[in-house]
Amino acid sequence: MQLPFFITVLIACLVHAMPVAAVPTRRAPNPNPGMITMPLKRLHNPRTDIHPQLLLQQHINRGQRRLARMAGRAEPSDHELRENLNKRMFMLENGPGSRVPGSTNDAVVSGSNFSRRRFRAGMAAAYGNSAPGGHHAKPAKGGAAMGAMNGTAGNTTTTSSGNVTVSGNGTTSANSTSSGVAEIDIQAATNGGLTPANAPTANNSLGLDIEADDVGYIATIQIGTPPKDFKILMDSGSADFWVGSENCQTATEGQSQGRRAQPQSGGGCGNHTFLGTQSSSSFVQSNQQFQVQYGSGAVAGVICQDNVNIAGLALNNHTFGVAELETVQFSGDTTPFDGLMGLAQSTLSEQNVSTPVESLASQGLISSAITSFKISRLADGLNDGEVTFGGLDATKFVASSLVTIPNVNQQGFWEGAVDAFTVNGTDAGLTGRTAILDTGTTLIMAPQQDATTIHQMLGGACDQQQCTIPCTTTSSLAISFGNASFAIDPRDLAVLPLDPNDPTGDCTSGIQAGSVGGANEWLVGDVFLKNAYFSTDVTKNQISLAKLTTS
Ligand SMILES: *[C@@H]1O[C@H](CO)[C@@H](O)[C@H](O)[C@H]1NC(C)=O
Ligand SMILES: *[C@@H]1O[C@H](CO)[C@@H](O)[C@H](O)[C@H]1NC(C)=O
Ligand SMILES: *[C@@H]1O[C@H](CO)[C@@H](O)[C@H](O)[C@H]1NC(C)=O
Ligand SMILES: *[C@@H]1O[C@H](CO)[C@@H](O)[C@H](O)[C@H]1NC(C)=O
Ligand SMILES: *[C@@H]1O[C@H](CO)[C@@H](O)[C@H](O)[C@H]1NC(C)=O
Ligand SMILES: *[C@@H]1O[C@H](CO)[C@@H](O)[C@H](O)[C@H]1NC(C)=O
Ligand SMILES: *[C@@H]1O[C@H](CO)[C@@H](O)[C@H](O)[C@H]1NC(C)=O
Ligand SMILES: *[C@@H]1O[C@H](CO)[C@@H](O)[C@H](O)[C@H]1NC(C)=O
Ligand SMILES: *[C@@H]1O[C@H](CO)[C@@H](O)[C@H](O)[C@H]1NC(C)=O
Ligand SMILES: *[C@@H]1O[C@H](CO)[C@@H](O)[C@H](O)[C@H]1NC(C)=O
Ligand SMILES: *[C@@H]1O[C@H](CO)[C@@H](O)[C@H](O)[C@H]1NC(C)=O
Ligand SMILES: *[C@@H]1O[C@H](CO)[C@@H](O)[C@H](O)[C@H]1NC(C)=O
Repeated sequence: MQLPFFITVLIACLVHAMPVAAVPTRRAPNPNPGMITMPLKRLHNPRTDIHPQLLLQQHINRGQRRLARMAGRAEPSDHELRENLNKRMFMLENGPGSRVPGSTNDAVVSGSNFSRRRFRAGMAAAYGNSAPGGHHAKPAKGGAAMGAMNGTAGNTTTTSSGNVTVSGNGTTSANSTSSGVAEIDIQAATNGGLTPANAPTANNSLGLDIEADDVGYIATIQIGTPPKDFKILMDSGSADFWVGSENCQTATEGQSQGRRAQPQSGGGCGNHTFLGTQSSSSFVQSNQQFQVQYGSGAVAGVICQDNVNIAGLALNNHTFGVAELETVQFSGDTTPFDGLMGLAQSTLSEQNVSTPVESLASQGLISSAITSFKISRLADGLNDGEVTFGGLDATKFVASSLVTIPNVNQQGFWEGAVDAFTVNGTDAGLTGRTAILDTGTTLIMAPQQDATTIHQMLGGACDQQQCTIPCTTTSSLAISFGNASFAIDPRDLAVLPLDPNDPTGDCTSGIQAGSVGGANEWLVGDVFLKNAYFSTDVTKNQISLAKLTTS
């Protein structure tokens, strides 16, 4: 297929896009809030092709890239990120703590059918080998196209027989760490898909469905005429809103350093909902192009206008983007959302347009450009995740605990000064730190030395590959903002067992080292945000945090 020249140029830009940089602006407040709620529906798309630990490494890689971009620093190279995945694969193959990485592959696994099957399948998928069982899976040197850029590609039809077996049961383990990681989390990590949220408890709000085991948070909005449902990742760490175009194609990126990525001919963009003139009579697109590079994945497309409905609030003829090229992180069938809504400040917008919440405020549909998040935890079983526009949902937090702090970021991210990090109340002695609060990042990325310090206190450890922590940890890390301390539930610190059959052994930590960020800058994602009510205000350029009513 012949692509327009600009698309070809954009593809070339996708791999090494310029870091975002912009000057903050202020927008005028507007009175008159509206009032509505929205239903949600379930999408279940089992992801049986990838070992959960590989998915986790992808989140670590994603966090590293994202932090690098946010800090305006050189990103880790594709080679480095692939190495991370390679190491993780060897670790899985040999079982935790068993063999030296790089030794022969026909090694003992950790006594687990799960490990072997998933590992094989993960290898097969990662290397583009779709043979059932993945018998040709073999770590290749250099040439294999895989890693953070392609880890979610490939066939999802393999290894349906690989049942997960864990000791303990979900009911008893869900609220305590004594039996290690909850079965519900291990299963969700394996299956992917969405766990639907309950109906929101405030007006101007959308439920946030949980992707896999607390990997991402997704709301349903309507676009077009007639209105169609789109599932949208809600991301406080970027500022562009886009959905896939009816003409969308999948682009691959990062096959090797410096090599130009190529679109897959006729690949489409997976089993998603798309927008265009065929499905929407009110859709108009321009020739103006945009492209956005994320921590993992990238999109390129054109600016468009169409009617958007968010929690019953109608943004008619709203300006946003349709993606004509998506990398597989977005286009893959197992990606359970159709687009992304950036809710940082529009100073960061690659599309040079207002974010939806800014537009809602400027049109007077909400009283102020406030976005508030209740990030829910799958293991709680409450499914009470919610994003609220124009205010805070008073039922979700303890009013007396609300603190408001200035946004210290000059570019338009949401970043707060950290007073202290404490482990069980003991100050870790880390001063002068700041934290970017990002719903679109799963984990917490800390500067290397900080990560090491914290893990020493937590009884975990960080090595070159990753930070680990006992799955049964009862230690709590708290982060203080505005003189208020927010403790992270120990369940959120132990993300996933290194060996899925041993949920009480060592776990990958929810805090990883992001050596590419600023020396004092943390990127704080959902591992923390599950433990606080989080609200942002564009007009006042400030952040609020409060203790949750349920904790
Ligand atoms: C692996 O699976 C086989 C049959 O599928 C079963 O006989 C064996 O006990 C399993 N091993 C473990 C460690 O689960
Ligand atoms: C990605 O994976 C697909 C399918 O597994 C494979 O065909 C493709 O070559 C891979 N591309 C890259 C860039 O790794
Ligand atoms: C997935 O598997 C099916 C059936 O085995 C095959 O037709 C298809 O080409 C495979 N797709 C990829 C991307 O490997
Ligand atoms: C997997 O679990 C299901 C439901 O528990 C069971 O019906 C099926 O036989 C199991 N498959 C294997 C291979 O153990
Ligand atoms: C879970 O295990 C506990 C004891 O370990 C037991 O009391 C409880 O009934 C079990 N629940 C289920 C659903 O199996
Ligand atoms: C787990 O916590 C949730 C909310 O905190 C609560 O509703 C539920 O009853 C608890 N489950 C157990 C088994 O304690
Ligand atoms: C939502 O708005 C309606 C209409 O103003 C009001 O009656 C209702 O109490 C509000 N609901 C909540 C939960 O605030
Ligand atoms: C596509 O997704 C829908 C749900 O959104 C699901 O019902 C359908 O089975 C999926 N189709 C394929 C081929 O995966
Ligand atoms: C929609 O907005 C665009 C750009 O803001 C404008 O050119 C166009 O006339 C508008 N269309 C309608 C129907 O209002
Ligand atoms: C946004 O503005 C920048 C700088 O003015 C410009 O280079 C870019 O092309 C614009 N992008 C869009 C989508 O308008
Ligand atoms: C933190 O406190 C818990 C009990 O609340 C305890 O089990 C744990 O060992 C303590 N951790 C440290 C590092 O002191
Ligand atoms: C935190 O406490 C100190 C000392 O009491 C005070 O000076 C400072 O203003 C407080 N900060 C906030 C954000 O409340």
